[in-house]
Amino acid sequence: MKPTTVDDCKLIKIDQIGDRRGHISVVENNREVPFEVKRVYYLYDVPSGEERGGHAHKELQQLIVAVSGSFDIVVDDGTKKETFSLNRPNKGLYFPAGLWREINNFSSGAICLVLASHTYDEKDYIRGYQDFISYKNDT
Ligand code: TYD
Repeated sequence: MKPTTVDDCKLIKIDQIGDRRGHISVVENNREVPFEVKRVYYLYDVPSGEERGGHAHKELQQLIVAVSGSFDIVVDDGTKKETFSLNRPNKGLYFPAGLWREINNFSSGAICLVLASHTYDEKDYIRGYQDFISYKNDT
């Protein structure tokens, strides 16, 4: 078994700087995220009932934040599954490599912000669940 498990996912509290005018939350490399951010992308306009994800990454680490609305991330390490609910812009899920994820239960208007440790590389994806299980078993 490759070492990452669902227990390596960490909910991270992101400080809020704020007053009556609202809040600012800041994410800096190697502080709130334990990696250097190379890419930022966001999911939005997800229709009710739709699911995203359904893949794993070999190297990519991510910090995932619900900057608006809410959604659930179902993490699967091949042995154990855990669901993390994200619903506040000051809470992020640190997501290491080597885990299967599905993102579902999007609220209307939800925006899923992803800070990623690498630029886009299709070769880093494992898109089949059985391929993921083989990858985890291939020590
Ligand atoms: P994918 O990562 O499969 O989306 P999700 O996990 O949210 O369902 O990406 C969907 C499509 O977008 C896929 O064709 C690859 C493309 N894509 C890029 O071109 N660059 C990127 O940085 C990302 C994240 C996706």
